[in-house]
Amino acid sequence: MTREDATRRHGQLAEQIRKHDYAYYVEAKPLISDAEYDALYDELRDLERRYPDLVTTDSPTQRVGGTPLPGFSPVTHRVPMRSLDNTYSVAELFAFVDRVERTLARETPSYVVEPKIDGVSISVVYRKGIFVQGATRGDGETGDEITANLRTIRALPLRLALRHPPELLEVRGEAYLPTKVFEDLNKEREARGEPLFANPRNATAGSLKQLDPRIVAQRPLSVIFYGAGEFEGVACESQERWLHLLAEAGLPSPSRYWLCRDKEDLAHAIAALDTFRKGLPYATDGAVVKVNEWRFYELLGSTAKAPRWAIAYKYGAERARTRLLRVVFQIGRTGVITPVAEMEPVFLAGSTVSRATLHNFDEIKRKGVRIGDWIYIEKAGEVIPAVIEVDRSARTGQEKEIEAPEECPACGTPLRWDGLFLRCPNPQCPGQLKGLIRHFARRHAMDIEGLGESLIHQLVDAGLIRDVADLYHLTLADLLPLERMGEKSGANLLSAIEGSKDRGLARLLFGLGILHVGETAAEALASRFGTIERLQNATPEEIERTSGVGPIIGQSVADYFGEAFNRQRIDRLRQAGVKMEAKRPTGQKRILQGKTFVITGTLSQPREEIAERIRQAGGKLTESVSRKTSFLVVGSEPGSKLMQARRLGVPEISEGDMERLLEGQIHGDEAP
Ligand code: IVH
Repeated sequence: MTREDATRRHGQLAEQIRKHDYAYYVEAKPLISDAEYDALYDELRDLERRYPDLVTTDSPTQRVGGTPLPGFSPVTHRVPMRSLDNTYSVAELFAFVDRVERTLARETPSYVVEPKIDGVSISVVYRKGIFVQGATRGDGETGDEITANLRTIRALPLRLALRHPPELLEVRGEAYLPTKVFEDLNKEREARGEPLFANPRNATAGSLKQLDPRIVAQRPLSVIFYGAGEFEGVACESQERWLHLLAEAGLPSPSRYWLCRDKEDLAHAIAALDTFRKGLPYATDGAVVKVNEWRFYELLGSTAKAPRWAIAYKYGAERARTRLLRVVFQIGRTGVITPVAEMEPVFLAGSTVSRATLHNFDEIKRKGVRIGDWIYIEKAGEVIPAVIEVDRSARTGQEKEIEAPEECPACGTPLRWDGLFLRCPNPQCPGQLKGLIRHFARRHAMDIEGLGESLIHQLVDAGLIRDVADLYHLTLADLLPLERMGEKSGANLLSAIEGSKDRGLARLLFGLGILHVGETAAEALASRFGTIERLQNATPEEIERTSGVGPIIGQSVADYFGEAFNRQRIDRLRQAGVKMEAKRPTGQKRILQGKTFVITGTLSQPREEIAERIRQAGGKLTESVSRKTSFLVVGSEPGSKLMQARRLGVPEISEGDMERLLEGQIHGDEAP
């Protein structure tokens, strides 16, 4: 291929991939299969490897996330990023319309109604059609530069789809985590005992604050735009026109908006949007009503906080108003501190509540919550209510700031920041220990019936348990002096503890509460490594090669076993008789029953290890290829066995395929 050919082909490929990214990530209507897409992408990447000077900043290969940043640089918004005032009733909305029309006197504006996306405000700059900078809102005047993080978002075009792109185009909108992705993320976090994100907005904020863009690249964030910042070389006179312009440029924008002439139209639009928004892939918490004609904006003006030409209308969930009395700090098993509001009891959606989560300190700051405030709380799909908003009009000036604790309330160790969360780093913290025992005894972990909340407190506070391994050394004599403990309940508890020794490696791994290791990862690790010794001796790279386990879990597992304290815990559990092998599927046919494998070339794991795992799954690893061989596993630099297999028509599979077979994700009969 000549250089010109390469340049031409590079241009074609980049163009096609851009088109397919738009179809897939913005319109959710893919035009080709994943495999066809991958082929285009691989060709582009190979071409760039051969001709590195073809790599441009807007090439589709530049989304993978570069190197971690030392910190975020500040960006000054030349046009400030304002917020919106809220209304909660149609009457209040009409009052806004009256205000606008009074100010404009003889002229009558039209209005645009758009969904109010519950994401994180961003500003994105294109110069000559190329994405050059992205920033958060910050305080509205200055935000953080998050260009590298935004680059990983596939719905964000790195190049505008315009034949004649303007010199400068700054668009504003929201980064968000699709609702479905958010729900799955929180489910996983719950299973792993990690703190839940308050809402998709909070999860998005957490992702965008990552200094390592590679982590951001793993969270499927998306973007949507509705607003204008600075621009040059674009003519636009209305919000409606702007929304069209965004769409023409290939920028995702609201899929529907309503153009309204009067109050009646507005009331209809608000009602229609309330139905429509339920089908949207992102969370919305209201409607935004904007004066359509831009020429009126100057006259209408702005306050420091919000423009007078737009307003938000919030769709209400059931909420209650009460006083915030104090904030307590709860410690989870991973040491994360959750601020919890203690309030004057109030009736809300079927029950009286006196505690509500404040989620994390970022949320406290965002909402400006202070002790003594009148607050609104909601049960947002969760059982524990959440603090939604402060009633600022009820402030007396006596309210006190909520200070993040510097030391762990249970053990006094200085706390550390970990992203949005404050964490106690002391692995021996009694607060964490209680959380860990609670988790260890859970039904899906070691399933120890009768080990309830008050018993856990008593055992830890009395110094009977300093680690989960101590559970297995408890005697009836230890238990009898405890409150509400008789011979019978003591004996039952001991027998439940005894019974838990046989739950198998997967449930033990889950029960140990290793950061990021949920039930699924624990099962994958148990089936891949078989025994805790093998897992303990594995490098992070070996661990992350388990399917369903990425670099974050790999590193976290390796770190866990790197701690002498944890190794000691494992030794003590072993001495107490806790089983540390993976349970083999018993009874029915094992997954690889009757299958024989041959390996050619080099794989990433030792041969004996693979042989053992194949054996455990009921299969066999042999040396030479015959007609009876079920699969040839092809590693790097395969040898003559490959030719032999091809002659005999033996199916070839990769190491990855073999992993999936071993983990039962695909079955021997459907392997490629
Ligand atoms: S217009 C100066 N339109 O809601 C104009 N904002 O609560 C202000 N938001 O800061 C923004 N969807 O981050 C506008 N369709 C929409 C919106 C929207 C969500 C956000 C925006 C704003 C916040 C105010």
